[in-house]
Amino acid sequence: MAVTAEVPEPINAFLDTPTPPEWLNEACNRLPELLLDHANCELKAASTALGFIYRYSDRTALSYRMSRLAREELRHFEQARVLMDEMEIPFEHLSASRYAGQLRQAVRREEPNQLLDMLLIGALIEARSCERFAALIPRLPDNLSRFYESLLASEARHFEHYLEFAKNEVDISEQDFNKRLEELKSLEARLIADPDEQFRFHSGVPSPPANKDQARSRAYS
Ligand SMILES: [Fe+2]
Ligand SMILES: [Fe+2]
Repeated sequence: MAVTAEVPEPINAFLDTPTPPEWLNEACNRLPELLLDHANCELKAASTALGFIYRYSDRTALSYRMSRLAREELRHFEQARVLMDEMEIPFEHLSASRYAGQLRQAVRREEPNQLLDMLLIGALIEARSCERFAALIPRLPDNLSRFYESLLASEARHFEHYLEFAKNEVDISEQDFNKRLEELKSLEARLIADPDEQFRFHSGVPSPPANKDQARSRAYS
């Protein structure tokens, strides 16, 4: 019997757009690439959490939370790698996706705006991961759907933590907070809904490469 999963309501309400069905269809046809990028994302999530500890070492509550989060993301990375080994998918390091790259570019360089943007982007990425896991679960083979089911609650919790810290660590008006949150949410939704030549865990609507050489190399990959 197919496993089903619900996206927690606060996450549905937080994201401006759901994952498009075209991406889900593509993902089901490209499971090795999905799992490889997912493993990379877990490693990057751990590294991002460590980055907060280095950069904001004077913020005690944030440092403890990020330390726990980094350990949890590393555990997810190990679990993804075990599944990859079982499925004989080689691991390789992948460069940043359009999604992560453009969200990172949106981070303002002066404090405390930088901290606020990084925390809000953390909340968005965790929320999107959770939403994608839930959408994928009923469509995947048993071993993968069980794994993604086990991650759903953690990523939902990570979303809550990032959002809480964004609200509590930065002293700005509610109006300014909401304005920035809306800007980043709509950027995130555009990256999910726009055509994307590259297939990744957080890519947009799959679109064929415009460049013929890329199309050829993709056909033979
Ligand atoms: Fe994770
Ligand atoms: Fe996470």
